[in-house]
Amino acid sequence: MDKAKNIVITGASRGIGLALVQWFAHNQHNVWALSRNTAPIEALQLPNVTAIALDLSNENAVLEWSDTFSPNRIDALINNAGKLINKPFAETTQADFEEVYKVNVFGLATLTRVLLGKLQPSGHVLNISSMGGIGGTSKFPGLAAYSSSKGAVSILTELLAEEFKETGPAVNALALGAVQTEMLSEAFPGLQVPMSAANMAAYIANFALSGHDFYNGKVLPVSNTTP
Ligand SMILES: NC(=O)c1ccc[n+]([C@@H]2O[C@H](COP(=O)([O-])OP(=O)(O)OC[C@H]3O[C@@H](n4cnc5c(N)ncnc54)[C@H](OP(=O)(O)O)[C@@H]3O)[C@@H](O)[C@H]2O)c1
Repeated sequence: MDKAKNIVITGASRGIGLALVQWFAHNQHNVWALSRNTAPIEALQLPNVTAIALDLSNENAVLEWSDTFSPNRIDALINNAGKLINKPFAETTQADFEEVYKVNVFGLATLTRVLLGKLQPSGHVLNISSMGGIGGTSKFPGLAAYSSSKGAVSILTELLAEEFKETGPAVNALALGAVQTEMLSEAFPGLQVPMSAANMAAYIANFALSGHDFYNGKVLPVSNTTP
């Protein structure tokens, strides 16, 4: 095992993010775990895990955390936090779109920007996108705000990789298919899928540590089911 890495994970209070926190902690890495609710992270009492209460949609809060609390060296930033609103497009408001985009796009962009100075040149920014955020894939009613925001994440990934290609860090996105989490239940009530959060987290964690040796500026589908 390489020496311990410093990993920042957003959306760490449940689902894939909480499973990522556990994977990195169990593999002796140092984790800064960001979400509004920190109770599920603290309840695990994991060594090397610092739980940070942060609302990614609040730009000032993100700026304040990065100035005062963030680690000085970051090896990987996993932008995993996600907000989903499941509503027919005709019933959506601008506020719905803003709520989703503030977390999935603006929060991701702001956090990445403010942590750039601490991300190692050999580091990796790994954005968690969605199969619905790739052009030409299956789309689903009710997910206009959510899937379009993931489309923005996918293209933003390519743009940031271009800007940092000489200096690092590398920037990639994994476009996930269905994983059994609370978010999946919100998008597709009652749907059961074989992929667990723990299994997907193990794949994402390994990719965060070594995928950038092979990929930069790539949006990679990670799906064995539809949706
Ligand atoms: N599950 C799937 O099938 C699937 C498929 C494709 C892509 N994805 C993507 O995978 C990622 C993880 O999904 P998941 O299924 O694990 O979702 P989840 O169970 O809904 O968890 C979402 C996480 O995001 C955090 N979050 C939401 N709003 C936030 C805010 N304003 N500030 C900070 N954190 C916030 C939540 O924490 P708090 O509420 O405590 O803040 C929570 O920890 C997401 O980006 C999602 O879009 C999931």
